[in-house]
Amino acid sequence: MSIRILVLGGGGREHAIVKALSRSPQSPELFCAPGNPGIAADATCLPDLDPVDPAAVTAKARELEVDLVAIGPEAPLVAGVVDALAEAGIASFGPSGAAARLEGSKAYAKEAMVEAGVPTAGYGVVTDREAALARLEETGCPVVLKADGLAAGKGVLICLDEQEARDAIEVFFTEQRFGETEVVVEEFLEGEELSLLAICDGERAIPLAPAQDYKRIGEGDTGPNTGGMGSYSPVQTVSPDQLEELSAMVHQPIVDLMARRGHPFHGVLYAGLMMTADGPKVLEYNTRFGDPETQAVLPRLESDLVDLFLAASIPGGLVEKEVSFAKDFAITVVLASAGYPASSSKGDVITGLDEAAGSAEVIHAGTAEQDGQIVTAGGRVLNLTGVGPDAATARDRAYDAAEAINFDGKQMRRDIAERAVRRERELDQ
Ligand code: AMP
Ligand code: GLY
Repeated sequence: MSIRILVLGGGGREHAIVKALSRSPQSPELFCAPGNPGIAADATCLPDLDPVDPAAVTAKARELEVDLVAIGPEAPLVAGVVDALAEAGIASFGPSGAAARLEGSKAYAKEAMVEAGVPTAGYGVVTDREAALARLEETGCPVVLKADGLAAGKGVLICLDEQEARDAIEVFFTEQRFGETEVVVEEFLEGEELSLLAICDGERAIPLAPAQDYKRIGEGDTGPNTGGMGSYSPVQTVSPDQLEELSAMVHQPIVDLMARRGHPFHGVLYAGLMMTADGPKVLEYNTRFGDPETQAVLPRLESDLVDLFLAASIPGGLVEKEVSFAKDFAITVVLASAGYPASSSKGDVITGLDEAAGSAEVIHAGTAEQDGQIVTAGGRVLNLTGVGPDAATARDRAYDAAEAINFDGKQMRRDIAERAVRRERELDQ
């Protein structure tokens, strides 16, 4: 009987994970909860299973007799789904609730970085308005204020001047928009951002290919933050040796610390880095694959993802493993629906999917099936990943696919990976 895996989540990241698992020579039997119409091509979707309900997930995993549950998003991790599965004797790919605090609490993550000796921005934690104002007096501007808990990327306010900082303090403590009592006040860092993901087995961290994502809605990095409008991998400025060095600096010390704390870290540890003039500094940890970085990283993976997931679920299981990536470039362009990121439009009919599949990987993020048609069902609707021997070719393939697809109000950035294409030209000269 082939190996059986249940993937939790239903966005573009999970579609990329399911596609990568389905390429495994082990021909796994795949299930995905809730899944989406794109994922349905490679996995049995379970639209009625709530991925954040530990008891329901455990019962379903038992009923389906799966060998492993792989968790895509952060919410099930923080809710303790991995702990419930472990108690039932079911293996998972993902950290325990205690280890997922690295993402679930920014104050916990900062304190862990300091203890582990990981370079990060200077910070303080404040729990009321007066303390925040006093801290502001000390730090001056620009300054960054972050809600402690999960806020889907919206809890970070960058304040360039004092008025913005005072307004942000009101947002956190008077409006309590994030329902938080703890706020991290952090030094503002400048530089290029880098997403560095590692796969971890509780003892060891193996870095995956470096990636960059595009967080703002507008070209030239303007306008409000989104869940991510595009990504690419690799990043030419990071050589293989540097990748190992960076990982030894930002992943391994945290894996060691969590092991010492009795909360061994299994799954993906994602370090969001700022490459500053003073060297790399960690902005944040996520305890899962990045979205949309995964959509550009996994198509380049040459190793068997099923094998890596199983190995990472066992203490020290990755010891003998290597992770290899193709030399190819991959570029992901996100198509978003009308109104995103403030709102999103549902039910707009999508055309051109088959044509797009001729030039790129078509990844479903927020789609639904309605009367035999595929329609929009979220902010980020589709991700097109172009793969090619160089950045320019990969980009052309992604944009050819992005142009082939149409729906009312379609939004996309046209400058995804421009930096990579420019660097490639510079290197050629
Ligand atoms: P985070 O969720 O902590 O990664 O923050 C979201 C985004 O805010 C990051 O990707 C950065 O673009 C920006 N950001 C966070 N912290 C800082 C900082 N200390 N300095 C400058 N920008 C930051
Ligand atoms: N791409 C940013 C994230 O996944 O949090």
